[in-house]
Amino acid sequence: MRKELYSLPWGTDNYLTDEQFYNRVDELTFISNLLKSTETTSPPTIMIPGFRGVGKTVLLKKIQKYLNNDYLICYLDLSLSYFYQIRNLNEINLMQFFYMSWIEACEKKGFNMSLDKIKKFFKTNKFKLKQIENFGEYPVPIPEKEIDNTELMKFVLNLPQKIYENHKNDIKGVIMIIDEFQALKDLGDGLNGFLWLFRSIIQSQKNVAYVFSGSLNSKDEIIDKMASKNGAFGGRMLTIEIHPFSKDTTENYLNEKVPELLFDKEGFERFYSCTQGIPHYINTFANILPKNIVLNKNDIQNEFKNILPILADHLRQQWAVLDLTQQFILTTLINNPLKRKNIGEKIAMSPNSLSRPLRKLLNAGLIENNNGEYSISDHILKAWLNQEYEKYGIFPFRL
Ligand SMILES: Nc1ncnc2c1ncn2[C@@H]1O[C@H](COP(=O)(O)OP(=O)(O)OP(=O)(O)O)[C@@H](O)[C@H]1O
Ligand SMILES: [Mg+2]
Repeated sequence: MRKELYSLPWGTDNYLTDEQFYNRVDELTFISNLLKSTETTSPPTIMIPGFRGVGKTVLLKKIQKYLNNDYLICYLDLSLSYFYQIRNLNEINLMQFFYMSWIEACEKKGFNMSLDKIKKFFKTNKFKLKQIENFGEYPVPIPEKEIDNTELMKFVLNLPQKIYENHKNDIKGVIMIIDEFQALKDLGDGLNGFLWLFRSIIQSQKNVAYVFSGSLNSKDEIIDKMASKNGAFGGRMLTIEIHPFSKDTTENYLNEKVPELLFDKEGFERFYSCTQGIPHYINTFANILPKNIVLNKNDIQNEFKNILPILADHLRQQWAVLDLTQQFILTTLINNPLKRKNIGEKIAMSPNSLSRPLRKLLNAGLIENNNGEYSISDHILKAWLNQEYEKYGIFPFRL
């Protein structure tokens, strides 16, 4: 049977079919084997950083599907928490979000919970944990005016271990996958305390494995706070970075999935340098390219100009909510990395006053700091800003 044309997923797809999902064999095997160790030993905590669009979420979903029969798996996307969206994430509503996700995971698995009652209690974010009643199999905190963060965290974070103990015969362990964990940066000064408490609560759990993932590079501050020797997880956390597709992988991938897409040698080189091996960009760009004609370097360059606003869509949205200082900083970094002092000179600001905006840009993942030199993380952002400048003679500060 002839393969359907344009059979690649789009860069925004969150879930890929087995047919669409390419490679990552080593990562899949390694991570699944680590998680399966929950059967016999205390499970490891795993950290999966990687560039935006590199394929972390689709990989985690694939693992979830693979282990779903034997395990209770709770997949949590922190960026979808209501309180994160309204920019009001804190320890309390984070625990509510965890709790609700566990309840839903149990429900999907057919583990009995008296859901309506529990949901009702969690509509309010006020608890007093001294009062706990049993509904169905699980204790539920009764809403009151007083809030005790530590008690609430203990209660919620110990729940998965309790669920396991109640369902030993049905599952081999429980796994909590926390995606977009960079959202935790919203806790600000409370982040460190939160991470230490989190670790101290989960470290005695024998049957619960935790996987954290987020669009960060491995040098990010939050990874240091968690995974480094002096971090909350004290070097007990395993970091497995997901890398972009290599040139060979990209070539094999496209040959297998879209054989109608043809390049000459330079054309492919150009395609690879435009997409940087990021599957999100590879798929979206490859999908719109003309098929069944040999594309050369110029063709790719021209098509790239057309697709750039689409590839840059998520970055445009991030750019649009920056303040003017943050936008100015980015424009100074388009052509090459700069030290803080040089950024200051270019936009007439003292190096000290740059601390805050630089931190915001770092936290948003828009820039990186390599030994004191700041650079833009995603070259698609540079290309898009340059394109706007070329088109209109000005950067789109008021997008
Ligand atoms: N193994 C793969 N095979 C085929 N396509 C892939 C693969 N991994 C990722 N992709 C493509 O890249 C897109 C982005 O993947 P995904 O959402 O998992 O990235 P991410 O690393 O989670 O990004 P973000 O940091 O923005 O959440 C997918 O929608 C898909 O089109
Ligand atoms: Mg993701």
